[in-house]
Amino acid sequence: MANAPQAVLARIRFAALALASVVACAATAETPVERGAYLVNSILACGNCHSPRTPEGQPVAGRELSGGVFIRTPAFEAAASNITPDRETGIGSWSDADLRRALIEGVRPGHGRLANVPLAPVMPAGFFKAFLPRDLDAVVAYLRSVKPVRNASPAPVYKLASRHDTYPDADAGFTEAQMQDPVRRGAYLVTIGHCMECHSPREKGVTDYGRLGRGGREFGPALVQGFSSSWKGSVARNITSHPLAGLGAWSDAQIKRAIAKGISRDGRVLEPPMAFGYYDRMSERDLDAIVAYLRTVPPLE
Ligand code: HEC
Ligand code: HEC
Repeated sequence: MANAPQAVLARIRFAALALASVVACAATAETPVERGAYLVNSILACGNCHSPRTPEGQPVAGRELSGGVFIRTPAFEAAASNITPDRETGIGSWSDADLRRALIEGVRPGHGRLANVPLAPVMPAGFFKAFLPRDLDAVVAYLRSVKPVRNASPAPVYKLASRHDTYPDADAGFTEAQMQDPVRRGAYLVTIGHCMECHSPREKGVTDYGRLGRGGREFGPALVQGFSSSWKGSVARNITSHPLAGLGAWSDAQIKRAIAKGISRDGRVLEPPMAFGYYDRMSERDLDAIVAYLRTVPPLE
């Protein structure tokens, strides 16, 4: 009688160990393409800009990454272009090195249309430069593996010299070892997810990372077209740890629901460009890491 619960416990412990080793194997067995698919379709939300939507705001099935929103600022007008491997209208003729350079330096290849011309700064290269080498390779491998879609994006127009923001955590960079620490792992995800580019105040085209996460940046159809025909715009919220103005008094579950399901603490459904439809594909471990990091963002009113 007294031994029975112990036998059960031993069996549970054995099952837990077996499961843990399966999970560990699965993690190491992840191929670069699988890792790239995970990153691009969750935290990176490349499709939030680069995938087309119907006028109702729904993704167009089978045409992912073939060209998306159109962005208009005083400095430039540019479409988030076709980044499928179509040779004529996409990135099919780019080498891996060309793609890596575009992603982390924001500069086009030295061949073809607009050779060596910098990409408009809305393409978040200043954040992607934080990629761990294996993640950069994974994103490139995944982009090569998606279905080529033919769709010519309109050519960009550059009107004024553009400013490329620099983001402190991206400049400092990250190491593989830091990924074991939830707060640093969260900082890495928030960096490559360029969360703070939207969630920090912006004045006269300059983002103020001294007021990290304070919110206030405005988005609207005059700036971005292509989310949906009914979208009227939105203002990025304060996501600092401030107990009243920010997320300080929210529970972990409430923060995760806002990020992944697009439902605010008071039940309101969030608007674009908040990319919750993508963030919903993040693993629980990565979502927890983001919450752990956000709890460390100094409070601001
Ligand atoms: C905030 C919107 C936005 C996000 C997010 C974004 N991009 Fe872009 N991207 C753009 C825009 C806009 C351009 C075109 C800029 C220009 O023409 O000057 C662009 C250009 C590019 C180009 C160059 C293509 C060409 O034909 O010139 C590549 C490659 C690219 N993006 C890949 C990615 C990948 C991969 C991701 C996710 C890791 C991503 N982008 C996320 C907006 C975005
Ligand atoms: C392209 C800009 C953009 C990016 C990138 C972005 N957000 Fe947002 N986010 C917004 C906007 C705009 C809102 C407000 C939407 C609304 O009020 O309808 C918002 C809302 C939120 C909210 C809800 C806050 C509240 O008070 O309801 C949270 C939490 C949040 N974002 C966290 C994040 C995190 C974490 C990331 C990165 C993984 C992120 N956001 C990336 C633009 C962005």
